[in-house]
Amino acid sequence: MSRRASINELNSVVYPVRSAEQLSLARRAVLEWATRLEFSLVDRTKFVTAASELARNTWVHGKGGEMTMTQLERDGRTGLRLVFADTGPGIPDIGRALTDGYSSAGSMGKGLGGAKRLVHEFDIASEPGQGTSVTVIQWKRR
Ligand SMILES: Nc1ncnc2c1ncn2[C@@H]1O[C@H](COP(=O)(O)OP(=O)(O)O)[C@@H](O)[C@H]1O
Ligand SMILES: [Mg+2]
Repeated sequence: MSRRASINELNSVVYPVRSAEQLSLARRAVLEWATRLEFSLVDRTKFVTAASELARNTWVHGKGGEMTMTQLERDGRTGLRLVFADTGPGIPDIGRALTDGYSSAGSMGKGLGGAKRLVHEFDIASEPGQGTSVTVIQWKRR
């Protein structure tokens, strides 16, 4: 019999991402939660780096939005999920946006693709004119 373990959602907190100061508060919260849950130093660093890039995109490209952080449990394993949501212009071509070096703003263009490589699970949904939502998950190693 095969069974896919269901995900339990534990604590969840919403952080606004509409200013440089809020961006840094959100980033610090991710570091605090990952530390409290005893993620390894490497996984913590990767996750905070990804969160930083995604929060910056929410603020700069998405014209501001929020980050929802949720503690997860699947099969006795602890995880952290971040959802970055905005109601900005959206992304017309997600494949292109994920390509290293592409930026519509003349910047480095490595944030989105970089973030994807740093996390265990990555999902992006965007509707031109409606907004963008990026979800990332990091699982604690046993
Ligand atoms: N939340 C968002 N809303 C709208 N466009 C976005 C968003 N996030 C990313 N993008 C688009 O994807 C491109 C690539 O993002 P990224 O790799 O972080 O590079 P950069 O931020 O340096 O432009 C951005 O230039 C932008 O066009
Ligand atoms: Mg970026």
